[in-house]
Amino acid sequence: MTTYVPPLRQSSPHLPFGDKQDATFYGKDILSVKQFSRDDLEYIFGVAHEMEEMVRRVGSFDLLKGKILANLFYEPSTRTSSSFTAAMERLGGSVIPINEVRYSSVSKGESLPDTVRTLESYADVVVLRHPETGAAALAAKYARKPVINAGDGIGEHPTQALLDLFTIREELGQVDGLTVTMLGDLKYGRTVHSLSRLLTLFDIRLNYVSPDILRMPAEIIEEIKATGIPQAEYAEMEPILAETDVLYVTRVQKERFTNPDEYELVRGAYVIGTDTMRQAKEKMVVMHPLPRVGEIAMEVDDDPRAAYFRQMEYGLYIRMALLAMVLGKA
Ligand code: NCD
Repeated sequence: MTTYVPPLRQSSPHLPFGDKQDATFYGKDILSVKQFSRDDLEYIFGVAHEMEEMVRRVGSFDLLKGKILANLFYEPSTRTSSSFTAAMERLGGSVIPINEVRYSSVSKGESLPDTVRTLESYADVVVLRHPETGAAALAAKYARKPVINAGDGIGEHPTQALLDLFTIREELGQVDGLTVTMLGDLKYGRTVHSLSRLLTLFDIRLNYVSPDILRMPAEIIEEIKATGIPQAEYAEMEPILAETDVLYVTRVQKERFTNPDEYELVRGAYVIGTDTMRQAKEKMVVMHPLPRVGEIAMEVDDDPRAAYFRQMEYGLYIRMALLAMVLGKA
């Protein structure tokens, strides 16, 4: 008679990446940008370049043939969800899409740990978007397979920050020495919470432009201050537009407001138009995680500095790289 021994996870999800003894992402979760070192970023970007070349040359290939991704989204998504699907399929794997949790057992009251343990029985990796901060970390605690945080409430969006950083590097050639201005909803925007933290690995300056009620959370400002990175807050973009190398625009996160009147007060606070672009550097990029809801006028789309559509394509290569890495194929 054989005794059943439950399979163990490949490695602890909480070992920091970049550790020379454990310089692999195999079996690891991706929960927060805090887990990355500069060496890790170089490695991820190197794999992403290989992915880009392969997509250009052959479109799809069989690196992850036989592997399955569970794409579990408790919040709306177009780009993140479909880019993970495209990434998995271009690598020859397949996807269990759960976009409408109200049609799944979640609507019967199933807990997140149970849903995640269910999906990992069928899949090799779980991508999770959830309205609560810390949800991905909670899921990872219960899951044996890698969990990738695709946005946890107002917490983090680490794969977006990686693709944002990759975009900056591809578009401007380097990250050190740049002035990055984040504009819009810095309170509820998880993309800026992740990107600002990730940028502290570089020699940069950070500017925050927001209405008073949507300022960058004090704890993030403190965290960044401790790294020695210079930061400054503004209510208008004019004073710092001319010195900005990366203008990172965000949407006011309507769904996070408890008081709709407050949303009405700040919607449309900033609009990037051709006038804005005239005052900006010639070598500069305008980025946006998208969706935009009026923060960047369509007339800006044809400006070569508008990088937000290219940003989505960079995201495909980054997500292909991450999937290959956590599944041990890169
Ligand atoms: C962002 C998000 O979900 O946080 N979208 C995205 O993933 N590209 C930004 C947003 O919704 O405003």
